[in-house]
Amino acid sequence: MNDNIRSPVAQKQALSVPTDADAVHDELIALANDDVDVFGGRVFSLAYVPDPVTQSLSNDAYRMFAHTNGLNADAFPSLRRMQADVVSQILGWTHAPAGAAGFMTSGGTESLILAVRSALKMYQSSQSAGDTSPGRSPGRLNMVLPTSAHAAFEKAAEYFDVEARRIPVLPDWRANVSMMAEAIDADTVLLVGSAPQYPQGVIDPITELSELATSRNIPLHVDACMGGVTLTFLERAGEAIPLWDFRLNGVTSLSVDLHKYGYTAKGAGVLLYRDKQRRAAQTFVTDNWLGGLYGSSGILGTKSGGPIASAWAVMRHLGDSGYQALTVTARDAALRLANHLEQHDVLQLRSWPDSTLVSFGTRSNDESIFAIADVLRTKGWYLDRQGPPPSLHATINAVHESVMTEFLRDLDDASSRVSASGTTGRTSTYGTIE
Ligand SMILES: Cc1ncc(COP(=O)(O)O)c(C=O)c1O
Repeated sequence: MNDNIRSPVAQKQALSVPTDADAVHDELIALANDDVDVFGGRVFSLAYVPDPVTQSLSNDAYRMFAHTNGLNADAFPSLRRMQADVVSQILGWTHAPAGAAGFMTSGGTESLILAVRSALKMYQSSQSAGDTSPGRSPGRLNMVLPTSAHAAFEKAAEYFDVEARRIPVLPDWRANVSMMAEAIDADTVLLVGSAPQYPQGVIDPITELSELATSRNIPLHVDACMGGVTLTFLERAGEAIPLWDFRLNGVTSLSVDLHKYGYTAKGAGVLLYRDKQRRAAQTFVTDNWLGGLYGSSGILGTKSGGPIASAWAVMRHLGDSGYQALTVTARDAALRLANHLEQHDVLQLRSWPDSTLVSFGTRSNDESIFAIADVLRTKGWYLDRQGPPPSLHATINAVHESVMTEFLRDLDDASSRVSASGTTGRTSTYGTIE
């Protein structure tokens, strides 16, 4: 790597001195040198790689629309059309009823924050309409969710000052519905389940959560950011998948990410609602400034058309049969890893994967699992580190099928070396704040 690129002082200078476009291009290549190798399948986190033709189409679509602005689709009817097509496709996949609607978002975190906002606004408008329970003393509003639900719900809780009432999961890592029922009170604005949850890759009992939501008249968000595409196509491939989508009457909103198992460029997800009223509650409109009427569907103002175009182009190209094939390939790779771990003498599978997420630790449940990750890293493999309990997490996608034999060999080698040496490694964060 070029030292000029590394030094912060040189970096500043680099940005103030006009530089030939070819030289800048070379510098970009140099900058990417230290990044993990996404396309070779050595990264089990953060990135999803389809076949080369789809990948190249996605890149082209992104480039063509990168400088368009989804803030105002009047100027870019192309973006309106592409977003409508994408949302409509996912409404179909998730068996949404007539009247359901949604928006594209920048991904899972924005979807989850907006799902909380919509639930809050709906609750507040029902209160101002006089729909209060007798004898009730209003407290801090809360949402009831399992400890496994994604960290972005904490972000929403902090942003909106809502209590995230976290309920411990059962020994099988799934939501404990009866404990969640006990945690509900008159200030509960939302229940949450995941299909699947990220940490151990299991689907919460969404049917029971839906019954609870219906009986207590509280909205239920299903976080299918990870599983929305995969579960749709595993079911179509004949796997017995428990219900998790709008076929369950209590499900009021649902998030599906495209930049994960939709294999599209980063910055694309979908947030769907059972009805348009709930969708309207996520939007924002003001004329309280000197610039006229301003409205936006999500958190962002200006938003690049690149991710929208990539999503539309990839979905149009792959169609249902393309997704079916990618899903089955990813599932086969995930099951190969799960089977291997089930018989391992050092490593322990946390749970049989309900989709394509595989989590594992050591049989002794200690931090030596992170030393195993360190050894794997020296061979170019990158896995997420998480806990409690100390575990590694593999988000398996289609690209991993071709490297699984090599990965299993290196995993075995790393685990025997670490067991023999008795070393422990370090954990790391799932995201960064730099
Ligand atoms: C279940 C689940 N929900 C939400 C998210 C957040 O998605 P994003 O990182 O796209 O904001 C993730 C990310 O891995 C996830 O696994």
